Amino acid sequence: MQYRHAGPADRTALDAVLVSAPGRPTLPVRLTVELLGRARSHLDRPGLTVWDPCCGAGVTLAVLGLLAPGITALVGTDVDPGPLDLARRNLGLLSPGGLAARADELDALSARHGKPAYAEAARHARTLVPAGCPPWTVEVADALDRDRTRAAVGERRPDVVLADLPHGRQTSWAPTTAGAGPEAFLSAVGSVLDPGAVVVAVDRGRTLPVPAGVRPLERLRVGHRAAVLLRAGDLHRSPSGAGAHSRA
Ligand SMILES: C[S@@+](CC[C@H](N)C(=O)[O-])C[C@H]1O[C@@H](n2cnc3c(N)ncnc32)[C@H](O)[C@@H]1O
Repeated sequence: MQYRHAGPADRTALDAVLVSAPGRPTLPVRLTVELLGRARSHLDRPGLTVWDPCCGAGVTLAVLGLLAPGITALVGTDVDPGPLDLARRNLGLLSPGGLAARADELDALSARHGKPAYAEAARHARTLVPAGCPPWTVEVADALDRDRTRAAVGERRPDVVLADLPHGRQTSWAPTTAGAGPEAFLSAVGSVLDPGAVVVAVDRGRTLPVPAGVRPLERLRVGHRAAVLLRAGDLHRSPSGAGAHSRA
């Protein structure tokens, strides 16, 4: 894949500013910004509400809030309540004083552990100017449960879904019901969205399966990852999207 929307800037320092947990995979920063840029290119609207239905530690949403201009709201949901405190801390960086507080925390870690990398991250946190300070929410919801996610999204009308799907042992699909996987995810999430919204999903592997009859706007390969961009209205029209909830 050729990057069209995100430059090759060194994002190592930003990774250190964000809070993550060992073994919890996150999308690379540059890829996150690129995928939002591609989703935006399929939309004609100035401000975007972005929803990550598998938000985990909230790294994807926090990266977008910090680096992507024109975001009006961020919505995070995940079936597992475990990482949501990390998500609240990462999204807290977007609040006034959030980066300064994180810089103080990193300086304290540097002093305690004698690690210059923490001090470097603290310096970065102090110089970082967030692209915006959009309001955000984080809630527990199973993305495969249409009623639950519809309730969690509430009156917000996401323009873009950006999700790094569960893969591997640390982040497998839950509940492990038969049929859980990318296709069920896309149908369920699509049913909650307005027809014009764009869904971006990323998975490990060579290709990402989509519901029968749905033609993606784009298919991408990035190293060991595959991504698709789809229009929610196309998901509504697929046989498995039947029962879609139209909000237009
Ligand atoms: C690859 S991680 C996402 C990492 C996340 N983007 C971040 O920034 O930290 C995949 C996430 O999917 C979640 N997940 C698994 N099954 C789910 C489901 N049915 N509904 C919602 N989230 C689910 C896992 O709990 C995990 O947090």
